[in-house]
Amino acid sequence: MKKTLRDTRETFKNFFKKNGHKVISSSPLIPQNDPTLMFSNSGMVQFKNVFTGVEKRDYNRATTSQKCVRAGGKHNDLENVGYTPRHHTFFEMLGNFSFGDYFKEQAIAYAWELITKDFALPKNKLCVTVFSEDQEAYDLWKKIAGFSEDKIIKIPTSDNFWSMGETGPCGPCSEIFYDHGEHLFGGPPGSKDEDGDRFIEIWNLVFMQYEQITKDKRVNLPKPSVDTGMGLERMAAVLQGTHDNYQIDLFKKLIDLSADITKTQINNDTIPSHRVISDHLRASCFLIADGLMPSNEGRGYVLRRIMRRAMRHANTLGSKDHVLSKMIDHLIKEMSSEYNELDRAKDLIKETIINEEEKFQSMLTNGMKIIHDEKNKIKNNTLSGEVAFKLYDTYGFPLDLTEDYFKPLKIKVDTEKFNQLMDQRKAEARKSWKGSGSDSIEKIWFDLKEKFGATEFVGYSTNKTEAKIFSLIKSNVEVETVLEGEHVFVVTNQTCFYAESGGQIGDTGFIKTESGLFEVSDTQKFFNSFFVHIGKVKGGKININQDAVLEVNLDRKQKIKANHSATHLLHAALRETLGNHVAQKGSYVGPDRLRFDFSHSKQIDQNQLKTVNKRVNYFIDKNDLVETKLMSPEKAIKAGAMALFGEKYGEEVRVVSMGKHENISFSLELCGGTHVHSTGEIGKFMIINESSIASGVRRIEALRDKELEKYLENKALDQKNKIIELESKFTEILEEIKLNGGSIEKFKDFDEQKILSASNYLKELKIKNTLSDKNKNIINIINKNNINFYSQILIDFPSKEIRKLVDEQRKNDSKIVFIFSLDKEKTSIAVGVSDNLTDKFNASDIVKKLSSFLGGKGGGGRKDFAQAGGKKSSISKTNSCVAKIIETII
Ligand code: ALA
Repeated sequence: MKKTLRDTRETFKNFFKKNGHKVISSSPLIPQNDPTLMFSNSGMVQFKNVFTGVEKRDYNRATTSQKCVRAGGKHNDLENVGYTPRHHTFFEMLGNFSFGDYFKEQAIAYAWELITKDFALPKNKLCVTVFSEDQEAYDLWKKIAGFSEDKIIKIPTSDNFWSMGETGPCGPCSEIFYDHGEHLFGGPPGSKDEDGDRFIEIWNLVFMQYEQITKDKRVNLPKPSVDTGMGLERMAAVLQGTHDNYQIDLFKKLIDLSADITKTQINNDTIPSHRVISDHLRASCFLIADGLMPSNEGRGYVLRRIMRRAMRHANTLGSKDHVLSKMIDHLIKEMSSEYNELDRAKDLIKETIINEEEKFQSMLTNGMKIIHDEKNKIKNNTLSGEVAFKLYDTYGFPLDLTEDYFKPLKIKVDTEKFNQLMDQRKAEARKSWKGSGSDSIEKIWFDLKEKFGATEFVGYSTNKTEAKIFSLIKSNVEVETVLEGEHVFVVTNQTCFYAESGGQIGDTGFIKTESGLFEVSDTQKFFNSFFVHIGKVKGGKININQDAVLEVNLDRKQKIKANHSATHLLHAALRETLGNHVAQKGSYVGPDRLRFDFSHSKQIDQNQLKTVNKRVNYFIDKNDLVETKLMSPEKAIKAGAMALFGEKYGEEVRVVSMGKHENISFSLELCGGTHVHSTGEIGKFMIINESSIASGVRRIEALRDKELEKYLENKALDQKNKIIELESKFTEILEEIKLNGGSIEKFKDFDEQKILSASNYLKELKIKNTLSDKNKNIINIINKNNINFYSQILIDFPSKEIRKLVDEQRKNDSKIVFIFSLDKEKTSIAVGVSDNLTDKFNASDIVKKLSSFLGGKGGGGRKDFAQAGGKKSSISKTNSCVAKIIETII
């Protein structure tokens, strides 16, 4: 019986397990330890730091079947897939690794044993290559395999020197080839026909010896090691008697399915499309399962290109319907026993692919119309750059898709013209660019964005990442190096730092390189996609092009996330309680607090606020998962997601949902921010203030968890202090009541109400006492010209009370009344004129004069009554002022 793909994988791993290797599972496709690498492209990627000695493991031999994607980056096979029997975007690489344990001899011996015994390939079908300078490998093959000299081919080129990327572990390699037979065209490796289908490389043994540090610098690894890579699909093809990977069990089934769904035959014309569909489906499912989402930047863009290329081929086969999404179940069934992440991410995979298919369909309908119109006008087998640009610019049809469409028709695209038009468009955009802030700042950011492109944001899934320092900006100028103490901006190729937007403030943390440490105090972004780390060099120096480790301040980030998620719950609770007119008008989400502004015309009453508070806490206590999905804005809004009015959304939005109940989310918002995993992480929540900030706009401020605890503690403390203060004031009042001869009987026990009544009682008591005390209440009446001049000097008498006394006295005819209250600091003066005298005398004039006699200024009122103040005075001085005023006015 033939070996299936699964059997082949098992045989390989079991062989090495039997030989003391630890079986390690594949690492994710998105490299976790390498910013320079687009995707895991070989088995050794997850061991990069073990080879260089930076990382230690408790084993020194391992075997894996590693998920790899070679699309984008150094190893890019995308354009070839479909047109050859062997190229894939996604494939599995079987490998055995020695970390400073065995080296060349043992590696070759293992390989020979597995291939000729367990896989039972005949020796006469095999040959090998070695790096021309590696005589040792040559001799070993001769010894171990007993090959004649013509079967060990020396290759002088980089083909036999393997490196992972621009930098990293590397070394000479030796490749094992299988001869598929004379019926196929092709020559042995190194010959002019080597690219044919007859001699196929099935296994690459790399003798890891060096580490490439920079382009020009290579050092020895601490210990010579081994890294091997066998393409599982190729090996399975050999074992299944075919040279065509797409004929092996897994692909045969996928291609049959693709033919079934598209209702097409499998023949020479259709096979490239079926291959593309099957291969790209597999890559897409695995990439999504590893957390990637289609986007217009970086890795997400590669995923989108892969998906769109497959959809375009389905369309070429004449299918008007979705094809990829119908094949997902089958693929997952076939592969999830080895890769159970596919099963876990099944729903997400389906939703993402269906969403992309819908979008593609509408783009295609429009683009294809143009393509059909243009097809007949093509001259010299070249599609004009203008048409390609129009397709791109107006219909969102990427250049590679246009090229791919015309490739089978042997029609080229004038990419030179296309690029020229693209540059022109950029220049126009730049001219019309009007941002905020000073021109020089705008220009530099514009230039930098153009030079480096968008920053890849990896902060949704990680708080720590490696990155490359792309640019250092000091005082608006790009520099090569920045030194300790300098305040600068740092730009990297990718970042896990969230840049301020949507109310959520920017992340802080550290950027470390080999030579220095940079403290990030804020992160901002320009053009929505160009991230800038703002801060100060804490120590050493930082250079451009250095590798760096970026690490976000975790504690602060967690608080920000929790506040952001709480803001969503608050928004939903407000809509539920107050009505759907509630729309977000602004927000602040920081580590310490949150603020939410929204449209609502009335003050919110206490009961409503309590309800809102209760609902938010209810959903926090439920501890539901916070889910994030990507969809088109239209779809998201249709699903009920709350969007911000006046906000321009891109082709795609993140939709954050919380508090699911029977498939309906309590909160569903379009949001690019970062959130907690489950609502329980938010902790206790409380609204602490509600106010109006503009007409029709209310503001709610709230706190949660530790910050709330602190706030409540402070509030309790304030309350306690206030009571202590009031108590001592109360005691003072009681003392004074006693001093003034009053009774404190009814004020025995303290409470806030009693303070007021006790102080009123004291006031009355003082008034009564003063009025009945001859030394404190000095009255003089002088009659002159038939006018009664009544003067009354009161000591320590409440100035507010003197008005009443004036009114009482001036009721009588022909009376002018002067009443003074003297205390330790000042004199209060009130003057009254009885109604029958107001024609001749003006109380207001009189009081002003009196005030000036007593060193005061101003004063005023009406003709019949006026008040003023003066400086501190004595009884005699006041009396003489009265005498003087009488003289003056008569
Ligand atoms: N890392 C080596 C390769 O990918 C084995 O070919």
